[in-house]
Amino acid sequence: MTKVALVTGSNKGIGLAIVQSLCKQYGGDVYLSSRDVGRGTAAVEKLQSEGLKPFFRQLDITDPESVRAARDFFKEKYGGVDVLINNAGMAFKVADTTPFGTQAKVTLKTNFFATRDMCNEFLPIIKPGGKSAETSQRTHGITADGVWSTHSRPHTIIVF
Ligand SMILES: NC(=O)c1ccc[n+]([C@@H]2O[C@H](COP(=O)([O-])OP(=O)(O)OC[C@H]3O[C@@H](n4cnc5c(N)ncnc54)[C@H](OP(=O)(O)O)[C@@H]3O)[C@@H](O)[C@H]2O)c1
Repeated sequence: MTKVALVTGSNKGIGLAIVQSLCKQYGGDVYLSSRDVGRGTAAVEKLQSEGLKPFFRQLDITDPESVRAARDFFKEKYGGVDVLINNAGMAFKVADTTPFGTQAKVTLKTNFFATRDMCNEFLPIIKPGGKSAETSQRTHGITADGVWSTHSRPHTIIVF
């Protein structure tokens, strides 16, 4: 079966760079994903203009329906996922005047809870020998929370 890599939040920034790099090096299908279809397809077109061939999937990690629909898509089309990069995330600017408590709540919603939910839905379909990776330290909290301890499929988890 065709191998497949999925990068969350990859319409710009580090995620887009990872998709760009995977398209050049990875021996399987590479999915750029975005919560916004317009921003996602624009990013795909940018990479296509460079001669690369990413696929696109809508995926908002804070939307359980979007996460489950994506999980079902990869399970059905590829029998699971070989490489999952949990990159989607957000951060307030240092100068932002939003009250700290609100910043904490909004940040945790995406960077911790939504990433945890992604792991809960996708780790069971990571193929044996597959890899999942995170682009921030937030996963230490997830590990401490025991989310991954319920997952017994043999694959590698990378945190960077
Ligand atoms: N840059 C750094 O120095 C740094 C350091 C440590 C960790 N990180 C982590 O690395 C990751 C990427 O950072 P970056 O600098 O490339 O950030 P970025 O340029 O702001 O890109 C973040 C990406 O995540 C997407 N995203 C946000 N909320 C989402 C959601 N609910 N569902 C799906 N996608 C969502 C954004 O989509 P939209 O365009 O729709 O907003 C965007 O594509 C983040 O998780 C960040 O916390 C970055």
